[in-house]
Amino acid sequence: MSRSKHLISIPALLLCGAFLPSAQAAAPKTDSKASTHSVATIPTQIPGCDALLLGTAWYPEQWSESRWEEDLRLMEAAGIRMVRVAEFAWSRLEPREGAYDFDWLERAISLAAKHHIVTVLGTPTATPPAWLTQAHPETLRMEESGRRATHGGRAHGNVTSPLYRQYCAKIARAMGQRFGHNPNVVGWQIDNEYCYALMSFDDAAKADFQAFLKSKYQTLDALNDAWTTAYWSQTYFAWDQIPIPIGGHNPGLQLEWKHFITKAWKEYQDLQIAEIRQLADARQFYTGNFMGFFDGFDHYDICQQLSFASWDDYVGSGHLDGTYNGLSHDLTRGFKNSNFWIMETQPGHVNWAANNNDLNKGEIRAMAWQAIAHGSDAVGYWQWRSALGGQEQYHGTLVGTDGTPVPFYDEVAQLGREFIATQALFKGTAPVSEAALLFDYDSRWAIQFQKHADKFDAVGQLRSYYQPLRKLAQSVDVVNPKVRLDAYRIVFAPALNVMPKETADHLLDYVRGGGHLVLGPRSGMKGAFNELLTQRQPGFLADALGGRVEQYYALEKDAPVSGPLGRGQAMIWAEQLKANAADTEVLLRYGASNGWLDDQPAVITRKVGKGRITLIGAVLDESLTASIVTRLAEDSGVKSILGAMPEGVEVSRRVGDGRTVYVLINLTRETKKITLPRVMKQVLGGKPSEALELPAYGVEILTEK
Ligand code: GLA
Ligand code: GLA
Repeated sequence: MSRSKHLISIPALLLCGAFLPSAQAAAPKTDSKASTHSVATIPTQIPGCDALLLGTAWYPEQWSESRWEEDLRLMEAAGIRMVRVAEFAWSRLEPREGAYDFDWLERAISLAAKHHIVTVLGTPTATPPAWLTQAHPETLRMEESGRRATHGGRAHGNVTSPLYRQYCAKIARAMGQRFGHNPNVVGWQIDNEYCYALMSFDDAAKADFQAFLKSKYQTLDALNDAWTTAYWSQTYFAWDQIPIPIGGHNPGLQLEWKHFITKAWKEYQDLQIAEIRQLADARQFYTGNFMGFFDGFDHYDICQQLSFASWDDYVGSGHLDGTYNGLSHDLTRGFKNSNFWIMETQPGHVNWAANNNDLNKGEIRAMAWQAIAHGSDAVGYWQWRSALGGQEQYHGTLVGTDGTPVPFYDEVAQLGREFIATQALFKGTAPVSEAALLFDYDSRWAIQFQKHADKFDAVGQLRSYYQPLRKLAQSVDVVNPKVRLDAYRIVFAPALNVMPKETADHLLDYVRGGGHLVLGPRSGMKGAFNELLTQRQPGFLADALGGRVEQYYALEKDAPVSGPLGRGQAMIWAEQLKANAADTEVLLRYGASNGWLDDQPAVITRKVGKGRITLIGAVLDESLTASIVTRLAEDSGVKSILGAMPEGVEVSRRVGDGRTVYVLINLTRETKKITLPRVMKQVLGGKPSEALELPAYGVEILTEK
């Protein structure tokens, strides 16, 4: 890596890749350990730009133009190379219907380019202007209460209103026309956080939902049958009798409402992409800024038309939870099985938590590197400077109300220097994993609708498997159960509640081919309509497993478990298992509990084809979960990338373009001493060595010597 190559004196037009072909970065070659995996493209790395981009949300529309140059100068000095702009600027972009005012935005983009900063344009559809909503009240969302949302907040638009969609399409088209060939616009963010997936409850939305059901089920008989509407006289005799579910409802109807929300936001997004795409250079990307484990819609579906996923990574109160944050990165990477961006993250503190404490000095730098380590290729801070008015006056920023740097600016500037110095190493690289967790929205929703045990938490369950698996493997993918799994040595499905036959068949193919599938509690209970299966759990996999769930119990008290896999406690949820086949082994049994569970199997396993299925029938305490996950993964051949690390030190690896880059992060406030398996080059630190010391929140990047 040569520093001089990235000096900022190169003209912006060359840096931003406007004149380069739109081809994506070459497919990286994976190393032998993970050889069956290939990372096809790195759409998050913009041809001609640095492979890692530091960025900020910037709102030129809130300031007089005379201020812009100074803002951009300070950004450039901090190593900021990307701004995201305009995502709330509709009233400035179109102050009167059809009267577009894009000149100011073009000047802002050009001035940014002069400072070697490329622009991501947001479509402003999260904030329709007052002239629009006043003239057409149906473009405002109707709340469940029957009242329309009012102007002055955001997320007030009505996603299912055809008229609102027309206005969104029009502004997107106009922006695409004006900026689709702008060499300094590298891509587009559609809307902002998909306006939290808020829906409208007006009659037109209801009719739209009913039409969606009709096109899916074709006949009312099919729908009535799928949902068992004979229950409580729910039978529908006409499509327009079907309600929008508010509160508890038929589980089939509830799940379809989630699918409809997904469809509504996807259509809204895809329409804007289509409008821009037909006018824009193919090199420009399309992304959306998601929110980690937000479950408003199915992110795998929404992301289909996007070039890559982005997310807004906020801690809120307290401090970085490295496990949860790492898991959230891996989740986002799984939306499209590709690298992603951090479009927004907190500069110090937020304004919306109960207590908006700042992260400690150094903690945000560690957080930024964790994002890169897990496959992000950009980190954007929200925001540059607080609007003097507006609802977020107290939020963290990079400059103060007087426009000069706040203390945190220096930490960003350090990151800027580090990104510029190391970006060439990360070019064409992505994380590659030997182990995966399955995460499925239908299952999460199905459990959420009927938790049965109030402490059962589908994300918590995922996390409890992730933590030890990440610690062992030092790289974990979180993926949709529908994707190809054959590259993984082991796949954990901590709570795959909804498992229709086609999903079960797909998983069985993976197992027969040599994979190890580990199912957690509540797996294989339901079909695609959120209906109970007529097989006992794990449903269509019970025969292959040679065992099944006899009964499930929401636990009042922890129940002891012991066996060849160790000993500990079952908590919250316990399934009484039964081994039916002669070769199904019992790995753990319950001790004295509610009588029903006493001495019954809690974990069973069976060799199937070249692989294996294991069923863990209970939520287990953290330490037993950790030892079981570790043991099963090790038995399946999963190995650590760099060997054991001290508690709180995270190892990650990115592979590609013939290179392997390791990122070491100390997520604690104590110094950690690390021994490497061999002498390695320390890119940020000192001489090649086999040992190093990471200070509190310290980061090191390693390559082979
Ligand atoms: C009541 C109702 C039943 C059923 C049970 C469930 O008794 O009458 O229909 O809902 O509760 O506990
Ligand atoms: C979200 C939004 C931003 C801003 C931040 C504040 O991520 O996208 O507009 O409101 O939260 O934390």
